[in-house]
Amino acid sequence: MPMETDKSSLKKPPVERALKNTPTYNMIRFWGRKPWNLVRAYIESYTKPHGIVLDPFAGCGVVAIESLKTKRRVIYNDLNRYCRFIARTSAISVDLIKLKEAFDKLLRDLRTKSYPVLINNKKRQIKLNCLYSTDCPNCGLNLLETIFITVIRILETS
Ligand SMILES: C[S@@+](CC[C@H](N)C(=O)[O-])C[C@H]1O[C@@H](n2cnc3c(N)ncnc32)[C@H](O)[C@@H]1O
Repeated sequence: MPMETDKSSLKKPPVERALKNTPTYNMIRFWGRKPWNLVRAYIESYTKPHGIVLDPFAGCGVVAIESLKTKRRVIYNDLNRYCRFIARTSAISVDLIKLKEAFDKLLRDLRTKSYPVLINNKKRQIKLNCLYSTDCPNCGLNLLETIFITVIRILETS
């Protein structure tokens, strides 16, 4: 038999419509992700700045990330290693200048340095750039550069 609940004592949800994911949440797909704006509205309504938000089944970390963005402290927990990875990577702040420097170095190394590989059991030196030499069909840029531009765009708008 269903339990009777007195709904009159429950607060009305602060907002009703879910907005589209922001780039932070679009970076990695997750089946159980809750809409960030509804989560944020609940946090702002039911907790105070600098308060502690506990999410014991935190999944991809929407509650944790929105708590941090709204100046709450947060306790994140999830038994799934993949979820913890998604949450940590989505929450981390990235130094775009350092990222660009690292990416430029990677591109330079791939274009100029040779690396030892085993081909038919023989050791050979090859330039690894050939493994990434696909061009983007839309913009014509090299695949590596296309990935880099996409990553920077996602991070700039997060
Ligand atoms: C529905 S998902 C949570 C989704 C989350 N609210 C979000 O927006 O990403 C439920 C999560 O609970 C985690 N979980 C299930 N049982 C657990 C347990 N005993 N201890 C910790 N986490 C658990 C799962 O790994 C899963 O990520």
